[in-house]
Amino acid sequence: MAISPSSRKPLPIEVRGSADRPLGMSPAQFLRDYWQKRPLLIRQAFPDFVPPIEPNDLAGLACEEHALSRLIVHDERRDRWQVKTGPLSEDDFAATPDSNWTLLVQDVDKWDADVAALLQPFGFLPSWRVDDVMISYAEPGGGVGAHVDQYDVFLLQGLGQRHWAISDDPAAPKAFRTDVELKQLQQFEPTHEWLLEPGDMLYLPPGVPHDGVAFGGPCMTFSIGMRAPSQAELTGDLADYLAERLPEEQRYADPDLKPAAAAGEIDRAALKRLRESLPFTAALDEDALRDWFGRFITRYRNAQTPLPAVKPLSEAQLLAQLKAGAELLRHPWSRLAWSAGRIGATLYANGQAYPASAELARLLCAQRSLGFSRKPSSAELALLLPLLADGHLVLRRARA
Ligand code: SIN
Ligand code: CO
Repeated sequence: MAISPSSRKPLPIEVRGSADRPLGMSPAQFLRDYWQKRPLLIRQAFPDFVPPIEPNDLAGLACEEHALSRLIVHDERRDRWQVKTGPLSEDDFAATPDSNWTLLVQDVDKWDADVAALLQPFGFLPSWRVDDVMISYAEPGGGVGAHVDQYDVFLLQGLGQRHWAISDDPAAPKAFRTDVELKQLQQFEPTHEWLLEPGDMLYLPPGVPHDGVAFGGPCMTFSIGMRAPSQAELTGDLADYLAERLPEEQRYADPDLKPAAAAGEIDRAALKRLRESLPFTAALDEDALRDWFGRFITRYRNAQTPLPAVKPLSEAQLLAQLKAGAELLRHPWSRLAWSAGRIGATLYANGQAYPASAELARLLCAQRSLGFSRKPSSAELALLLPLLADGHLVLRRARA
């Protein structure tokens, strides 16, 4: 009989490890079923675990000038969080309360070979995916509050007990509290809670809300954290890499240029030339290519840019001035271009994009001054007012 997907046993969220199977399963099975997919608690991932570092040595490291450390104290009554970044001093530790504080030190594997040895069982992951071993020491009640991390992390309990609460609800809200510098979650509704003992390990993929609080007595947690560059970082670096290798003489070229149909327009022929000369623009759709190029070319080689208006005009003031015969002058340092997209046109001015009608965008590019013999439409006002506010247009009042 064929097994229907609904009759398959759900994957357990909790398993038991052993000395030769710290993941409680083979690395291949862990990677297939859990890695980057779902949380997993491994009881006794490291049986008889002995922390490779003493709390006092961790505190000593936190006082080193180049160590990355933070001391976080939670005032539970007022729900205030105090964060002090290292280097810390003996006085900082002497001033800590009896509970509700934690010390976190990043990159401890770079300072201590015994801590670095903790990475050995994670050799099934590419070493360049591993970021660091961060170690926290906490007194009862200590923690960093509910938050999400952007990276996979293995949270290995080293000393004492820690209460972990997580949410594996993909729809869990991820908004940050704005009153705390710790990027804590505004709301956190746990779906699972556990008390971890030394040797237990919790794996969390990126984006899983979690909150770990030291329970009962002194607590040390070893976070084996991964690194994963953002698409933005990769793209920025790739662009720099390519740019460094491209010769100066290789430039935008248009030997096929025809007389401009409309002033300032970035037309299809220009976009086609860009596509042909920059193969990696294949990743951009037509609108994104247009938007990037419009912003770029109106910023390119500008020695100056207009200053925003000191006091932006209101709509009523602008209408009254235009009615009285005032003109709108383009600021001499304003570089304008426009392009028609699938939905409407966009006017670009010194790197900024403004939604526009093709007619008005073309007029603004073609004429250095513009008067209105009729009342501008609300769509036209929606372009003129921000251009005035940003200093690209300047009002020249009619002579009395
Ligand atoms: C900790 O406080 O040891 C863990 C921090 C975290 O949840 O990322
Ligand atoms: Co975390």
